[in-house]
Amino acid sequence: MSQTASPIPSAATPELSQRLLEVDNLGVSIHSDEGVFRPLNGVSFTIDRGQAIGIVGESGCGKTMTANALLRILPRSAEITSGKATLRRHHAPEAGLDLLQLPADGREMRAIRGRDIALIFQEPMSAFSPVHTISNQIGEAIRLHENLGRRATRDRVVELLDLVGIPQPERRADDYPFQFSGGMLQRAMIALALSANPSLLIADEPTTALDVTVQAQVLQLIKRLQREMNISLMLITHDLGVVAHMVDYVYVMYLGQVVEEGPVDAIFDQPHHPYTKALLKSIPSLTEQQQVLTPIRGTVPDSRHPPKGCPFHDRCEEVVGEVCSQQMPAHYDVGSKHRARCFKYTPVQVSAAAGRANGDADE
Ligand SMILES: Nc1ncnc2c1ncn2[C@@H]1O[C@H](COP(=O)(O)OP(=O)(O)OP(=O)(O)O)[C@@H](O)[C@H]1O
Ligand SMILES: [Mg+2]
Repeated sequence: MSQTASPIPSAATPELSQRLLEVDNLGVSIHSDEGVFRPLNGVSFTIDRGQAIGIVGESGCGKTMTANALLRILPRSAEITSGKATLRRHHAPEAGLDLLQLPADGREMRAIRGRDIALIFQEPMSAFSPVHTISNQIGEAIRLHENLGRRATRDRVVELLDLVGIPQPERRADDYPFQFSGGMLQRAMIALALSANPSLLIADEPTTALDVTVQAQVLQLIKRLQREMNISLMLITHDLGVVAHMVDYVYVMYLGQVVEEGPVDAIFDQPHHPYTKALLKSIPSLTEQQQVLTPIRGTVPDSRHPPKGCPFHDRCEEVVGEVCSQQMPAHYDVGSKHRARCFKYTPVQVSAAAGRANGDADE
């Protein structure tokens, strides 16, 4: 196990042409009446072409803020204070574009929103205007990015609605949003997001507002379309159970930082960070019949007053020593493309643990 200097670019380093987005050390501050606080504190992650990543963590840890910072749709009180977010577009992968440097309301950023990066979120009603038909609204999004005539646009709308599983799409295209059920509206929002063939789909808690059966259907739909269209997916959720069948690689966030990252199987089978372990113990398992769910003790600290040292130390069951409340741990390699930000995995801790284990075996 080795220490990696922080901030880190990525665990995996594929060909440049495969890398779609590289976020390095993203920091955001918010100016409030109580002063300035930092909801994002050096977030780093990467997304390759066609890859599905999950961003997980409890409410308030900065998942939505991370997505919104990339799309440059942060609240006025928020300011990007550090980092780079390099987008490598299809037509010019070698000329990366730093999203954090573009004017938030400029032409380039407006073209990237929707065209390169599309967003679906929890509340589909807010993606649609109540006074225009579904067809008009998806059609307008198509025409923003493509020069199509009326007939061709209408055909494309119907094709998209069919693709996302809206029954009788020819007829339902002329409905108003209030005539769709919650699940149908969520599907229509996915059609809207996919209308410009984006390279990256960000899905921010896309199914939290839906009942469990519809939730599973919508997740399956997102996964199928992501694979078929070879889009990259950034799935944001507070529910680790949701990412299990949806993504290849997981980033676990806590209080504005990534505390563990790894291939999805490694995160589930060999979680290393005490926070990830606690998160896993708090979700129901599909395989174990009788299990006790253990809530994580305490609550996420207010990001206005973060604790000193490791932000998780006062809820942690595996505190190593005083260092946990004094210093922020670095990212340590704990497996193949798998890292955890915890003092348990400093080389000195690991060799001490190995020594103890050998001693036990000798006795
Ligand atoms: N407009 C805002 N003004 C001030 N603080 C904000 C604003 N939006 C978010 N925050 C704060 O930033 C932090 C991160 O919020 P964020 O919405 O990214 O959390 P999240 O991980 O998406 O949570 P959830 O799972 O509840 O959606 C929180 O402490 C939140 O209170
Ligand atoms: Mg959120």
